[in-house]
Amino acid sequence: KKTPLIAPSLLAANFLEIGKEVEMVNNSAADWLHLDVMDGRFVPNISFGFPVITPVTKLSRKVNDVHLMIEEPEKYAEAFAKAGAHILTVHIEACHHLHRNIQQIKSLGMKAGVALNPHTSVSLLENIITDADVILIMSVNPGFGGQHFIEQTYTKIRKLRELIDASGSKALIEIDGGVTVDNARGILDAGADVLVAGNTVFASRDPQATILALKQ
Ligand code: DX5
Ligand code: ZN
Repeated sequence: KKTPLIAPSLLAANFLEIGKEVEMVNNSAADWLHLDVMDGRFVPNISFGFPVITPVTKLSRKVNDVHLMIEEPEKYAEAFAKAGAHILTVHIEACHHLHRNIQQIKSLGMKAGVALNPHTSVSLLENIITDADVILIMSVNPGFGGQHFIEQTYTKIRKLRELIDASGSKALIEIDGGVTVDNARGILDAGADVLVAGNTVFASRDPQATILALKQ
């Protein structure tokens, strides 16, 4: 049985206690800290920006995994590097020049991630699969936490696993949206490497125990 990387999503945290929430993650078995940036254009919601991200990454001792749900992400890549992002993930649907965007992110010293909405086919990754460090499959429509996991995602994960293995790509498969302790095993068995979890972690009675449960 393989052990997944766990990436708690700060979107579900209590923002009045944000320092304590980051320390909780620091002192947990989590591997990455997932930061969701929404612009109100690419997705029908607005989350947080640099005034939140910069102090959070200063406090964080985990890999800072920034998920951009924004139009024109190339305009902000440098600012996110300066704000402490280690992994910068852009949506394929928001990029006219994805290959260039990936090279830009890497040239800024970050790992490059590519995210796919639920309707987007894994086959579109064929020509950049060896360039990307992370592929993030959205298992809900992006914009909000606390939604239900879309079952079709299992098929997408299996297809992506095949594509990655056949190409010799080292990309990690990250699953984002509706991940629970109950469905984690099935997601991993389909071929995922990284599990994002917002409400499952932060709304639980013992978030650190829940992170451990997700890892097992
Ligand atoms: C949704 C975000 C997710 C979200 C996941 O647009 O990309 O990262 O925080 O939240 P849960 O785990 O509650 O579905
Ligand atoms: Zn996310």
